Order: sequence, then structure tokens, then C-alpha cells
Amino acid sequence: MTDHFTLVRHPLVQHKLTLMRQKETSTALFRQLLREISQLLAYEVTRTLTLTTQRIETPICEMDAPVLDGRKLALVSILRAGNGLLDGILELVPSARVGFVGLYRDEKTLKPVQYYCKLPEKLDERLVIAVDPMLATGNSSVAAIDLLKAAGATDIRFLCLLASPEGVARMKEAHPDVPIVTAALDDSLDENGYIVPGLGDAGDRMFGTK
Ligand code: URA
Repeated sequence: MTDHFTLVRHPLVQHKLTLMRQKETSTALFRQLLREISQLLAYEVTRTLTLTTQRIETPICEMDAPVLDGRKLALVSILRAGNGLLDGILELVPSARVGFVGLYRDEKTLKPVQYYCKLPEKLDERLVIAVDPMLATGNSSVAAIDLLKAAGATDIRFLCLLASPEGVARMKEAHPDVPIVTAALDDSLDENGYIVPGLGDAGDRMFGTK
């Protein structure tokens, strides 16, 4: 993947995202849509996954057929909203290794505070896809990528649902080597660090909390 920023304009993605943005969309439907959209976004972000071959037998003859080398992929969910993207992708690539980074946003400073980190081994040998639905200020995304790099990761992609111009600029400045894949680039951030027009708090909408 060579572009720093990829906007997935597929009509199914855009339609589902519009449903997710609507404030009357229920928690159950929001979660289902996030799962569906994550699989469509996964198609884009996994475009260059490595393949190996496996000797198989068709009803006609033997052949060396391409299969995913799923052990070479690590998915890292940035808690808690990242789990909404993680589940769908994991259905598509069940043998991927999975890590979690827990960061919460200090309400006053909007700066990320780490409370959990559990990552697969040998990150240097894997394509690492970090997932978080919202790239807002970019503070927590940059901090999560810092952690992944400190753990040895060198080939990292960042997958989100919505991005703000501020978040994209911050990521590009801090981690120009990490391509971003997203379904939308929204207008701005409000004074609380929420994406405008956005969809509200992704974690609250996924889990029905407030
Ligand atoms: N996190 C969210 O869940 N929503 C935003 O708009 C920004 C950060």
C-alpha cells in the first residue's frame, strides 16, 4: 500500500455509514452495520496480504492453490470501540493474531492515557492493522502506533470508519509511513474533540452506554 490516505467510496460502505450516523439508529443495528462495514473495509486494507500455496486436489486434478498466510497478520484493536471493527475482520481472517491497546481520553487535556497493552509476538514479521472507528484528534491513534513501533512493528496500517482533517494531518506528521484507510473524511472537530458531523461517541453507540 503506497498511498498515505485511502477513502473507500464503495456505495455499500457509504450507504451503511449514513445509517450509522443517524441518531435514531438503534444500538443493535449500529453494531450490525459496523460489523458489515468492517468487512467491506477489510477488503481494501488487506489487498496486499501475503499468499502462500497449498497442494490441493480438485475433482479434476492436483494443483498448488493460493491460500492466505494468516499467521503473518496481526490485528490490533484500540479499545474499546476498535472491537467493533475487529470482530468483522476476524471473521474474514480467522487465523490472524490479535492484540489490544487500551487508551482513554483524558476529558480535560484530550490526551491519551494507556491502561492496557497486550500484543502478539514477533510484530516485526507481521503486517499490523490497527483498528479504531474514529480518527478524531489523532492523539490516541498516534500513541497506539507509537506503542506498536516500540514493540517492533514496521509494517503498519490504520483502519478507521471516520477521520477528521486534524487527525489525518496529525497521523501524517507523526507516522508518515502508516497508511490510513477510512470510509469518510468529515469536516472538523468540535471543542470536545468530537468529529463533525460524525456519528457521536462510537463506543457509546456500539454498547448502548452514555
Ligand atoms: N471518539 C468518538 O467516539 N467519536 C468522536 O467523534 C471522536 C472520538
